[in-house]
Amino acid sequence: MTIHIITIDGPSGSGKGTLAAKLAQHYHFHLLDSGALYRLLGLSLHKRGLLDELEQQLAQCVEIALNLNIKFEMTQNGTIVLLDGEDVSQTIRTERVGEYASKVAAIPQLRTALFERQRAFAQAPGLVADGRDMATTIFPEAQTKIYLTASAESRAGRRVKQLQGMGVDVKMGDILANIQARDKRDMERAVAPLKPAPDAYQIDSSDLNIDQVFALMVNYIDAQLAK
Ligand code: DC
Repeated sequence: MTIHIITIDGPSGSGKGTLAAKLAQHYHFHLLDSGALYRLLGLSLHKRGLLDELEQQLAQCVEIALNLNIKFEMTQNGTIVLLDGEDVSQTIRTERVGEYASKVAAIPQLRTALFERQRAFAQAPGLVADGRDMATTIFPEAQTKIYLTASAESRAGRRVKQLQGMGVDVKMGDILANIQARDKRDMERAVAPLKPAPDAYQIDSSDLNIDQVFALMVNYIDAQLAK
């Protein structure tokens, strides 16, 4: 049986995570949130005091990446993420852990260490894989590749709303600067930089809501599945 792989790549705040989860539910496919793996590795290395010594303690960091003790538990209220048995679902979504993830993601040996773990998510009947390099590096054989982007300003606006909704006091300027810095780091790194695969269907969500983007994606995916 063919395993159908749908990759969704793009910068943070483009709506990828929400859409990937909706698509996985719609098609009854498995879901890979690869950003969560980088966040978990970042958190794990931070807890061990290794985050500022990634280069110096590389062998130990690779070992930790290969043996990362994590679990994704699907519940009715979303996914619970466990690191060494501890519920870190909320913690890994913070800006702070996003920064840890971005540091970890710039180290080629750590990306390689997470490669097989990501590949293992491809199981029947199919997979929706959300990340930066899903189409270019992890699943180049994917039948359906989508690149979802949005202007830095509209992504910052969404993030501000989301944080305010959580009761966090934030400044638009700070969030925008953060997003621009992370984009730059993700796009300019030497290994697996964020960029669209040549055969990806590209969507700009700056002026679209989630339902509109979802409809575009389903249209495209249905056509790919029918091939
Ligand atoms: O999608 P996210 O915000 O959870 O990703 C967190 C960080 O991990 C982000 O800086 C980019 C990096 N990342 C990556 O380099 N490759 C992926 N496939 C997914 C995330």
